[in-house]
Amino acid sequence: MRVSVIGTGYVGLVAGACFADSGNEVLCLDIDQQKVQKLSAGQLTIYEPGLPDILQRNIREGRLAFSTDYKAAALHSKIYFLCLPTPPNEDGSADLRYVLESARTLAGHLAGPDRGQNGDDAPLFVLKSTVPVGTNARVRGAAAAILKGPFSVANNPEFLKEGTAVDDFMKPDRVVVGVTDDRSYRILHELYEPFCRTGAPILRMDPASAEIAKYAANGFLAVKISYINEVARLCQAVGADVEKVRQATALDPRIGKTFLFPGLGYGGSCLPKDTRALVSSARGFGLDFLTVDAAEKVNDAQKTWLIPAIVKHFGGKLSGRTLAIWGLAFKPRTDDVREAPSLSVIPALLNAGAKIKVFDPEAMQNIRAIVGDKIKYAENPYDALAKADALMLITEWNEFRSPDWKRIKSLLRQPVVFDGRNIYDPDHLRQMGFTYYGIGR
Ligand SMILES: NC(=O)c1ccc[n+]([C@@H]2O[C@H](COP(=O)([O-])OP(=O)(O)OC[C@H]3O[C@@H](n4cnc5c(N)ncnc54)[C@H](O)[C@@H]3O)[C@@H](O)[C@H]2O)c1
Repeated sequence: MRVSVIGTGYVGLVAGACFADSGNEVLCLDIDQQKVQKLSAGQLTIYEPGLPDILQRNIREGRLAFSTDYKAAALHSKIYFLCLPTPPNEDGSADLRYVLESARTLAGHLAGPDRGQNGDDAPLFVLKSTVPVGTNARVRGAAAAILKGPFSVANNPEFLKEGTAVDDFMKPDRVVVGVTDDRSYRILHELYEPFCRTGAPILRMDPASAEIAKYAANGFLAVKISYINEVARLCQAVGADVEKVRQATALDPRIGKTFLFPGLGYGGSCLPKDTRALVSSARGFGLDFLTVDAAEKVNDAQKTWLIPAIVKHFGGKLSGRTLAIWGLAFKPRTDDVREAPSLSVIPALLNAGAKIKVFDPEAMQNIRAIVGDKIKYAENPYDALAKADALMLITEWNEFRSPDWKRIKSLLRQPVVFDGRNIYDPDHLRQMGFTYYGIGR
């Protein structure tokens, strides 16, 4: 099948490359010329394990190409996957500008007499972006104002996770398709069927249910994280250990083990904006989405939860102190720093007078673009520690899990560890002479 993918960020690029890998002819469009140039040359613009291989192979074999030309994307196929940003407006609602503009531009190129005139060749706009309930209808309205012939708008929310995006796309838990007609369902079924051989269901539903399904999933994940973080606060207040409480809680299969890890909160391009959009969207229908609203409030405070402990440890002031920070990306195995806890921690520490030296395996460039030279960037994890007064872990990359503690102790001015993800063993560190601070332990 011929497919056009509009927007080649984390979602569009993975979707485009994976659709090409299953034999489709894919044209990916982006308005970012530099990005398109690099991708056309087989160079990745994001860090995503497994993706370079698929990208290069499919370009080489002629199934995957990139363009900035909307007309070319409009004419390449009749199926348009819109993988565009839906960032938050100031009131928390999703900004649908990119999605609507893109649909209008595509429709403009399809409005000619030879396109979209009969049912078999009717354009199908597929909303892969995370969009609030009612967006399908808005896109339909925007396209209808331009297109004379038949067309369809479907929702196909994406559930991939950065860091395991290729695997998630190739082996999804489920595929959600929100459609109003059988033809749209058949097209999407045909495209996804190769990825669902292991039995993942392709769930057909109406567009509104598909739109809510994505937010409902992310809202629930946010609630789980904030819930365990509030449990951690209680544990800390009474001198209990949240790690023991977590194990006892997570072993109940009704609760489950995932997304129940205390830490410095969630970030990224999805959970924070999707929780806000869900609350805002519900408000538009006269409803208060109290649980998700609370999760967001808990998370906002959680990102800087360790700062008071750091200030207290150093006698009430941080001027003249240097903190070494390990991990900047919003989670391991990605270079994405959007709404990352590090972006709350760094300004808080700088405001308190501290100097900061950071290391992250993939996200340094993205942080530098935001924070600039206000902090120092280390060559490797141990370089960050030299003459620092403490180590603070923010993102639990694998390579930080079993470090050389003797070397760390010899490099730090004081053997102090602030473990923002509870990945270290407090007893072991204390035996080695470290002062250890975690979350709720
Ligand atoms: N990143 C994730 O893990 C993830 C997972 C599931 C769903 N989503 C959702 O998917 C959508 C896209 O997210 P993302 O992380 O891929 O975003 P992104 O910011 O990484 O990528 C968006 C791309 O769209 C391009 N773009 C912007 N305006 C354009 C236009 N008018 N025409 C063509 N291209 C344009 C940008 O240049 C960029 O390359 C969002 O709604 C997001 O919530 C993201």
